[in-house]
Amino acid sequence: MQEWFKKAKLGIFIHYGIYAVKGVSESWSFYHGSISYEDYMKQLEGFTASNFDADHWADLFKKSGARYAVLTSKHHDGVALFDTKYSDLSVVKKSPAARDILKEYIEAVRGAGLKVGVYYSLLDWSHPDYASVYPDGRVPADLSTVNRFSSPTDGTQDPAAWQRFLEFDRAQLSEVLGNYGKIDLLWFDGDWERNAKQWGLPEFKEYLKSFNPDLIINNRFAGYGDYLTPEQGIPVNRPKGVWEFCTTINSSWGYQPRDQHYKSLRQIIHMFCDCLSMGGNLLLDVGPMEDGTIVPRQEETLLGLGEWIRANEEAVYESVAGVPANYYGDGSVLSADGKTLYLFVHNRPAEAVCVKGLKNRVTRASVLHSGRELRRDVHGGAPWNGIPGILWIYLTEEDCAEMTTVVKLELDGPVQLYDGGGAVITNNQ
Ligand code: GLC
Repeated sequence: MQEWFKKAKLGIFIHYGIYAVKGVSESWSFYHGSISYEDYMKQLEGFTASNFDADHWADLFKKSGARYAVLTSKHHDGVALFDTKYSDLSVVKKSPAARDILKEYIEAVRGAGLKVGVYYSLLDWSHPDYASVYPDGRVPADLSTVNRFSSPTDGTQDPAAWQRFLEFDRAQLSEVLGNYGKIDLLWFDGDWERNAKQWGLPEFKEYLKSFNPDLIINNRFAGYGDYLTPEQGIPVNRPKGVWEFCTTINSSWGYQPRDQHYKSLRQIIHMFCDCLSMGGNLLLDVGPMEDGTIVPRQEETLLGLGEWIRANEEAVYESVAGVPANYYGDGSVLSADGKTLYLFVHNRPAEAVCVKGLKNRVTRASVLHSGRELRRDVHGGAPWNGIPGILWIYLTEEDCAEMTTVVKLELDGPVQLYDGGGAVITNNQ
């Protein structure tokens, strides 16, 4: 895994597509029949990108504190945001926008010094050769359950058509990876309708890496990805290996004006801290309007998150996962050398916050954003027996930041934690 990704901590996900015209759900709306395929595709006529300013996006992402961005170059609907030789279904050829959105996005994001990520749906519910086989190649017992966009409805598979589809995906990906300079991250989606063998893995992966050996690929690649992508529900246990939590700011990936179910900035910062605490990244989504405008509420969230990150930067990019929640419940991170522990304090404590099971001596406790030193105290324990007491750090109202406060604990050495269940102290003092 590339170091940049582990240190990036925050990425911005952008679900931009024709679904923003009517404000329906991306691709899934026609798949589930809440809109007909024809009406869904009519949205092409209303996709103008008239206010799309990639530099403004990139500038906003940078201000949010993100180190990378990921744009939907093609969602499950098969509508490419880029100029592709291999299909007419693109906003370049079929919408009034008539622009290569992907190209402008890549240039702006790269120009702003961010890493370039591209989302690409492996499955394509519009391609005539896509619905040619069944998952795992097995004809389902009950054909009435088959969605016509995914697989044939008559029980007949067409392996030759499937091979053509694979060639098509590869050809489009050669454009994505070959026509716009170096792509740092490929964010696949929709692998779940076929297995690794059907996707032609592992050769498919080798082919992609031949464009850029440093290319990172997420795990939605039938078991061949580089990192995990839990979605919408934050992990409660630390996922194994490298991971990134993707989530929406309201409840929708794309622009859906009816959806006013917004998370507050405070909640977004809390979730970001949860990711940091467990050593993961946050990939925070925005759903721009059809004209390319990012809705003000989402823009404000990004800017607010950026402000918080700048005030607490020391605890962000260079940090690693903190101590487990039974030592400190609200989440924490450690400096890379393990000698500084940063505690996230989301709510104003009535009196103090406490850390349990810390064997180290704290040489200084302070508030990160202000530098103000904090009073601290240890109660109980029997350090001569290897049993630490409880460390209390006293925080007053004015020590706290408006959003999550970070308390910095400087330790006498790399963090050492007690992991016992308590014991009788047989050698008392
Ligand atoms: C989902 C959906 C999709 C969305 C994505 C984001 O599984 O299929 O609409 O783009 O994942 O993580």
